[in-house]
Amino acid sequence: MENDNVASPNMQQDFEGLILHENPHLIDLCCELINSEWPRSHTARRRNLECSCDNLPTCLILVQKNTKVPRVVGHSKISRIPSIQHGAFIESVVIDKNMRGKGLGRILMHQTEDYMKSIGLKEAYLSTYDQQGFYTKLGYSFCERVCIYGSSISLRPTLTDKVPSVEEKREKSTESQNCTLSLFVPPPPPPLPVFVNASKVPNSSFNVPQTIIANGHPKKDFMKKTLT
Ligand SMILES: CC(C)(COP(=O)(O)OP(=O)(O)OC[C@H]1O[C@@H](n2cnc3c(N)ncnc32)[C@H](O)[C@@H]1OP(=O)(O)O)[C@@H](O)C(=O)NCCC(=O)NCCS
Repeated sequence: MENDNVASPNMQQDFEGLILHENPHLIDLCCELINSEWPRSHTARRRNLECSCDNLPTCLILVQKNTKVPRVVGHSKISRIPSIQHGAFIESVVIDKNMRGKGLGRILMHQTEDYMKSIGLKEAYLSTYDQQGFYTKLGYSFCERVCIYGSSISLRPTLTDKVPSVEEKREKSTESQNCTLSLFVPPPPPPLPVFVNASKVPNSSFNVPQTIIANGHPKKDFMKKTLT
């Protein structure tokens, strides 16, 4: 199912994947790119992107090389999944509207997966309302819902874990103060809408590779790929 014939060699040469927090001068361009697809206040978007760090969440961008003015054409964000130690969640995948259909989405996803592997992750998860076809082409298959809220397994203390001193705690808090999201556990998501035709589609959440619209709500599917 997976097709590794990526975009033309030129496309690959003309674009490079970068880690957003290592290129803070590109944050505003990245805000514009994401907001062109999912409009939100620039300040809120910027604050969210400023949370990108080495320890997840990490934002990756696809940038056109050798242009007079920098051009951010793609973005993805990798977030921790508290209940799955070796997996992470890919979200906010977007390619510039004028650059779609040229293989850049595939390049962006491959770079995202390569980055995940480089930090020891073994499984990529994501959810989508209407891009099942794109992700299926990249080797993703339908899976059960995963939750990105809650505290991380790796953060839970075990009997062998050392209890941090007050100084260590203070240091950690200073480190994270620019990233309120990492300290703040958001409330659980609202209940899912009731689908009028759900009873006609058993296990529809991961058997049916197309969007089902009922009561005006698109259905979100969860997908997964083992990173090899
Ligand atoms: C989804 C998105 C990232 C794809 O980027 P793209 O650059 O257009 O995708 P590519 O050109 O790299 O496509 C790679 C392959 O997937 C296929 N593909 C792309 N979108 C598809 C879709 N919606 N359904 C089926 N196949 C699709 C392409 O035909 C191509 O197949 P090929 O290699 O056999 O020719 C882009 O359309 C986008 O930014 N959409 C808006 C934001 C969005 O919906 N993001 C996903 C949130 S879950």
